[in-house]
Amino acid sequence: MSLVDDPAIRGDAIPLLARFDSAQVADKLLAAYASWPAENRRAAIDVLISRPPLAHRLLDAIADKQVSGTELTALHVSRIGELGDEGLVERLGQLWGTVRPTSEQLRGEIEKLASSLTSEVIQKSDKYHGRELYAKSCGQCHILFGEGGKLGPDLTGADRGNIRYWLENILDPNAVVGKDYQTLTALTDDGRVITGLLREETDVAIVLEDAEKRVTLPRSEIESLAPTSKSLMPEGLLQSLTPDQIASLVAYLQSPGQVPLPGQVPPIDPKSGKVPGAIEGEAVEVLAVSGGRTSAQGMGGFKADSWSGNSHLWWTDGKPGDQLTVGFPAPAAGDYEIMVVLSKAVDYGVVSTRVNDSEPTGPIDLFNKPDVITTGPLSLGKHKLESGTNRLQFILGSPNPAAIPRNMVGIDYIYLIPVAQ
Ligand code: HEC
Repeated sequence: MSLVDDPAIRGDAIPLLARFDSAQVADKLLAAYASWPAENRRAAIDVLISRPPLAHRLLDAIADKQVSGTELTALHVSRIGELGDEGLVERLGQLWGTVRPTSEQLRGEIEKLASSLTSEVIQKSDKYHGRELYAKSCGQCHILFGEGGKLGPDLTGADRGNIRYWLENILDPNAVVGKDYQTLTALTDDGRVITGLLREETDVAIVLEDAEKRVTLPRSEIESLAPTSKSLMPEGLLQSLTPDQIASLVAYLQSPGQVPLPGQVPPIDPKSGKVPGAIEGEAVEVLAVSGGRTSAQGMGGFKADSWSGNSHLWWTDGKPGDQLTVGFPAPAAGDYEIMVVLSKAVDYGVVSTRVNDSEPTGPIDLFNKPDVITTGPLSLGKHKLESGTNRLQFILGSPNPAAIPRNMVGIDYIYLIPVAQ
C-alpha cells in the first residue's frame, strides 16, 4: 500500500506527501484536516502550498469553508503568491484581500499608523499582551530580549524607539532585504517549489530553511535555483490585528526590556496599595553606592502612574560608571526570573543591571517626558539565587541626550517568579 492510499496518515508522514503530485494527496489531507491537532494541520498546509495544483485545492476548501481562512498565515499567503501561478494570485486577492499592495498604498498605511500610534497611545497599551502577539507573529524568526528564532536579524539592538523603523519594516519587508537574508527559490524536477534561506551548501545538496521547515535538496533533484527579491518576512503581518493589538505589539517592541507574560506579576492591590509578594524598593538594604545619594521618596504626588506602597528607593546624582548595590532576600535557594519596576522621568538615567555575579544586562533608558511614570514590570532574566541576601546592582551609563543629566534611578519594587524545574 502506498503512502497516499493509507487511510490513516500518520502525522510524521505528512511532509513526505509533498513528494506526490497527485490530486489524491490534496483530497486525503483535506478530508482528515478537521480532525487533526494543530501540529498536523500546519504540516498539511505546508504540503498544500508546495505546488500550484494542491494550492488550488486548498483555496477551494477555504472557499467552501471546509478549512477556515484564518488557518492561512501571512507567511502562507506570500508563499502561495510565489508559486508563480497567476490564477492563484487572483484567487488569494479575493479570499484574503490585496496580496501585494502598491507602494503608494503602503506609504498611506504607514503614515496613517504612524500618526495614530502616538507615544501616549503606546504608553497606555498592554505590552504584556504585546509579548504574546510577538510570540505568535514574529518570534519564530526574530530574537528579542534573548528569545526567539534565528531566521531574521536579532531585533534587541535595533532602532526600537523609532516607530517608523517598525512600521516600514513590518509593512514593507521587501523594500530593503539585507544580503545575508536573500531568499532562494528552488524548483525540483518533480514540480515542487521550495523557498528559504540558504543554510548549507555542498557539492551534492543544499539546505533551505524557512519558518516552518529545513529541507535538504539533493542537487540532482533541483531543476532550477534562483534568488528572489522578496524577503522571507511575509507582508500583511498586521492585517489580522485590531488597532489595539497593533498598539500593544508596538509597545512591546519598544519596551526597554523583556516584560512578564500577562498575569505573571499581580497588579497593585487597591486595599493595601501594594503589589502582593513584592520586595519594596524603599525597604531593600543599600549595600553599597559609589556616588550620589539614596533615600526613600514618596510618589503619591505623581498622578500619571501608580507605585507599589506609594514610594520608591531613589538614587540621585551618580555619574556614568557609578554603581548602586542593593540586597534582597530570596525565600529559598533556586532559579528565579527577576522582575523589577523602575521609575522614569525627564531627569532619570540609563542603567544596566547585574544579579549577584551575572553578566550585566540592559541598558534600560529611564528617560520619559513630560510625565513621571513607571516602567511596569521588566524582566532581568533568570538567575540562580541563594537563600538569604542576594545582590542586585545598577550601573549608570551615559544618559539619554534629551534628559536632564541627574542620572536618577528609582526602584519601585522587585518581584521574584520561581522557575519550574
Ligand atoms: C518568516 C520569518 C519572519 C517573520 C514571521 C517576521 N520576520 Fe521580520 N524579518 C525576517 C527576515 C528574514 C528579515 C531580513 C530580511 C529583510 O529585511 O526583509 C526580517 C527583517 C525585519 C526587520 C528589519 C531588521 C533590520 O533592521 O535589518 C524588522 C524590523 C523586522 N523584520 C520585524 C519583524 C516583526 C516586528 C515581525 C512580527 C510582526 C516580523 N519581523 C516577522 C523574517 C521574519
